[in-house]
Amino acid sequence: MTGPDQQADLSPASIDAIVAGALAAFADAASLADLKVARLAHAGDRSPVALANRAIGAIPGPERRDAGQRIGAARAAIAAALAEREAEIGSAELEARLVAERVDVTLPVALGPAGAPHPITALMDLMGDVFTAMGWEIAEGPEAEGEWLNFDALNFTPDHPARFTSDTLFVEPLDSHVVMRTHTSPVQIRSMLDRPLPIYVVCPGKTYRADEFDATHVPVFHQIEGLVVDEGISLAHLKGTLDHLARSMFGDDIETRMRPHYFPFTEPSAEVDLKCFVCHGASVGNPDAPCRTCKSQGWIEWGGCGVVNPRVLAACGIDTDRYSGFAFGMGIERTLMFRNNAADMRDMVEGDVRFSRSLKGMAR
Ligand code: PHE
Repeated sequence: MTGPDQQADLSPASIDAIVAGALAAFADAASLADLKVARLAHAGDRSPVALANRAIGAIPGPERRDAGQRIGAARAAIAAALAEREAEIGSAELEARLVAERVDVTLPVALGPAGAPHPITALMDLMGDVFTAMGWEIAEGPEAEGEWLNFDALNFTPDHPARFTSDTLFVEPLDSHVVMRTHTSPVQIRSMLDRPLPIYVVCPGKTYRADEFDATHVPVFHQIEGLVVDEGISLAHLKGTLDHLARSMFGDDIETRMRPHYFPFTEPSAEVDLKCFVCHGASVGNPDAPCRTCKSQGWIEWGGCGVVNPRVLAACGIDTDRYSGFAFGMGIERTLMFRNNAADMRDMVEGDVRFSRSLKGMAR
């Protein structure tokens, strides 16, 4: 190789050869990596053209200008060829990569298993829909509830057994007087305190009791509460409303009955029963065909109901001469058991999507 201190050959033929060598090397480069090697060899600091450039100074007299022009043109030609080839290879490589990495968005993909709304949620929505279709509103309240709203305002006496810690989950510290609501009935009080009259509300939601967890009990369960306060409301409106709900849930053939009972916040009070959907009453007085579902009673308990106790209305500042009301509350889990033959409550809390999927659509 010709060093700057040596007498360099800067003849036109020699410069042309340098340029031709560089152009051929660039053309041969098949990748950007190849081109980098060719660039170092033919356009780098120690390339023939760089050395020729450095040799210009040593040339005497008028020949220096000619040589300078030739080498300047040669360097420009090499730089242009390099840039051109770089662009060519670059776009070819990009093209190849785009082809190689192409994603066909129309290909079918393996979808993960689809979930399903939980049957309790679906059933609560469905029961809510029965009422909103009649113009009622959905009311809500907190699950951690003031003891006063869960018990006192509902006319429970201070020594009522439902308040015992064996039934009610108290939130610590005990003197906070906060309980996990044992029923959705405190929403009755909240509705009467918050809403203008007349009131037509249902409240679906979670409720808590200190129960063991087994096939028929869960410590966290769901209820739907209904409350009406208006002028001229009687037990007959309650019966008609419950029958409408029962038919919407179980079909037009369902029979209901009201059985006298006691709740502190309703007077009179009743439990509402459904005609046994398994034996349809055939097991009653018939020891040859006992029914496990209704224990041969012919009826199964669905929920509680009654005419709102005037003491409760008065506690909420409602004029009891003018207004009366009814209320009811029933378990969503029980409703699901009866409606969809879900025999074991544990299935309802374990969160196995197969249970939800098996009832998908059935809840509607
Ligand atoms: N809150 C009662 C219970 O949980 C049910 C009920 C609601 C009774 C409304 C009467 C009126 O057992």
